[in-house]
Amino acid sequence: MSNKTVVLGVTGSIAAYKAVDVASQLTQRGINVEVILTEAATHFVTPLTFRSITARPVITDMFRLASVFSVEHVALAEAADLIVIAPATANIIAKLAGGIADDSLTCTVLATAAPIVIAPAMHTGMYENSVTQRNLAELRRRDFTIIGPIHGRLASGGIGLGRFAPPSEIVTTICHLLSRRKDLIGKQILITAAGTHEAIDPVRYIGNRSSGKMGYALAAAARDRGAHVQLISAPTSLPKPLGVEVIDVQTAAEMSSAVSEKISRADILIMAAAVADYCPVKIRKRKVKKADQRWDLTLKRTPDILAETAGCSPRPLRIGFAAETENLLRNAEAKLNQKDLDLIIANDITIPGSGFGADKNQVAIIDRSGDIEELPLLDKTEVAQRVLDRAVKLLAE
Ligand code: PMT
Repeated sequence: MSNKTVVLGVTGSIAAYKAVDVASQLTQRGINVEVILTEAATHFVTPLTFRSITARPVITDMFRLASVFSVEHVALAEAADLIVIAPATANIIAKLAGGIADDSLTCTVLATAAPIVIAPAMHTGMYENSVTQRNLAELRRRDFTIIGPIHGRLASGGIGLGRFAPPSEIVTTICHLLSRRKDLIGKQILITAAGTHEAIDPVRYIGNRSSGKMGYALAAAARDRGAHVQLISAPTSLPKPLGVEVIDVQTAAEMSSAVSEKISRADILIMAAAVADYCPVKIRKRKVKKADQRWDLTLKRTPDILAETAGCSPRPLRIGFAAETENLLRNAEAKLNQKDLDLIIANDITIPGSGFGADKNQVAIIDRSGDIEELPLLDKTEVAQRVLDRAVKLLAE
């Protein structure tokens, strides 16, 4: 890490004192840390504290020529391997979402091409306000990595969602992002996403709650790491990721055909789709009119797409997801064995704010030897990176 530069932006929150720990941990890893304090942050922590930790000048004012940088926001924006804003207030999140550049930090962020990480910290009401959520969604869309906030004790004395994520988690994520290379160049990755629709009649279908976010995050992450990505997508309202070949399907049968057609060229198959296990035996050509009190539908099994790819040759690395409501690890491991997978990503879909439809996911990654890596609640973009980290490691072996 010794040739890396991280710009640490600190904004005006009571959690600003924890940014000192973030600066310290990054510095101890040999990273060059350039600190920018907003005016509000200087009321909570002093520039001298960060200067003492990082041994670098601290920027607090766009118009003071205190540092080695000539036009600071441009120079720092270019020098940064990564920018982290920790803590990030509702105010800075709104400014970044709106493209406002009225101080050193916002100017630097707007001018950079480096990856950006933010760690929000604020009162629960401010965090859950629809405006803040809309702004965060905009930053996610622009590939910002968002860490936390977590549930816990807040400065107000109450307990709720809005607490600053642990500094060690922020530092781990930064190091993960910094060490990532274009390590999937030349690799073909086949990914499935979203929930299949099994038609009953021209109006109705059997479906599930998958939004496609997990599969789409995997596709974007694999693309960014240099892979050629084919994304077989069941219906979703998500925009198609740029630079990814998307194959639209509706049903489990269509997804199965698309996977069989594409798999021979794949180095890695990742099935994040929620595939219907059953579909109606008969699809009615006309809308079924309501008549009796009861309507009994007869269903039949759909193909188990992942299991069917077990014997294919050449054999790609095969990764499945397991969405479980009970006995998470035992059930997921059973699926790994039944489908002869290299990895399974176990999803406890009962955790609030995780799994189906959510922006975050809390998963455990299980390999063939039974080794279990339990991850905290992370953005799906970060879960995607962690899954790909494991895939890259397995390919290398
Ligand atoms: O789309 P999101 O809203 O972001 O939600 C993400 C998710 C919860 C859908 C995702 O993380 C997830 O867990 N996907 C797998 C859901 C699922 O169908 O799990 P399962 O345990 O029923 O299936 C196990 C594996 O077999 C999965 O990889 C699945 O794609 C595959 N499968 C299942 C049935 C079937 N007929 N064919 C299959 O290939």
